[in-house]
Amino acid sequence: MFQQKVTRLRFLKYFLTALGTAVILSACDNSGTNTGSSSKDNSQTATAGKTIKVATEPTFPPFEFKGTGNEIVGFDIDLIKAVGKAAGMTVEFQNLPFDGMIPALQANTVDAAVSAMTITPERAQTISFSRPYFKAGLAIAVRQDNTTIANLDSLKGKKIAAQIGTTGAKKAKSISDAQVREFDSAPLALQELANGNVDAVINDAPVTLEAIKSGNIKGLKVVGQLITEEYYGIALPKNSPNLNAINTALAKIISDGTYAQIYKKWFNAEPPQLPETAPASTS
Ligand code: ARG
Repeated sequence: MFQQKVTRLRFLKYFLTALGTAVILSACDNSGTNTGSSSKDNSQTATAGKTIKVATEPTFPPFEFKGTGNEIVGFDIDLIKAVGKAAGMTVEFQNLPFDGMIPALQANTVDAAVSAMTITPERAQTISFSRPYFKAGLAIAVRQDNTTIANLDSLKGKKIAAQIGTTGAKKAKSISDAQVREFDSAPLALQELANGNVDAVINDAPVTLEAIKSGNIKGLKVVGQLITEEYYGIALPKNSPNLNAINTALAKIISDGTYAQIYKKWFNAEPPQLPETAPASTS
C-alpha cells in the first residue's frame, strides 16, 4: 500500500517535470519563430493568449475618442480589437498624450500605439510600424469667412495651429515665416482657429472634416487640396516580437471583410485599396 503510494507520487513528479519541460520547450519554440521569418500559424501562436497594452490619444474622432459613457470608441479602436481577436490577443488601452507615444514605445512601457499615427521614415528609425491600415492626408482649415488662404503658399507668414508632435505640426513648421502654435489635442487647435486667434490649422483631413460635420467646432471650412498623402500604421517598439502576428492579423481582417465592415461603419463608404507598405514619398 505505502509502496504503491510512493510509486504514484514519483510518477506524478516525473509527469509534472516532463510537462514542465514540454511547456518550456514550446515557449522556446515560440520565441524562435518571433525572430525568424515565421509562417502565419507560428506568428499567431506567438501572441495567443497575450494581453497587449495599447496606447491611444482619444481626442481624435472618428479614429479614437470618448463615447457617451466615457468609453474609448472609434475606427482605430474597432480595428485593433479585431486585430487582437484575429491574433488571439487581449487588448488593453492606455491613454497617452500624442507626443508621449513614441517615447513610451521606446521605453517599452506600452506594447503598441493605435492613434491615427502616420508611418513616416523619420519615425520608422526609432519604432516599428505595421502595414498601412488607413489612407489619409493633411488638410488646411480656415474660418468660413476667410478668402485669402487657399493653399500652402498662402500660409507663408501666417499664424498656424496644430496638435503637438503630429505630421501637421511638422508641416506647419516647414512654411516660411509661419508662427506655429502647438496644442495638446486637435480639437484645441481647431477651437483656437474658431476663436480667431490663429489664421489656419493643419491637421489630418478626416478629423477636421468630422469636427466640422459633427458641429463640434463651428464656423470653419477646409480649403484647397490635401497637402500630403499619408498612411496610418499600428506603432510598435522597434523589432517588437508582436509585429508578425499583428501584420498577419491585419492581412486576415482585410481579406475576410472585417476591415471593410469597420470602415463602412465609420466612413459610410467602401474602403480604398491599401498598399502593403507605405509609399516612400509619405511625408
Ligand atoms: N496622423 C498624424 C500623425 O501621425 C496625427 C495623429 C494624431 N493622433 C491622435 N490620436 N491625436 O502625426
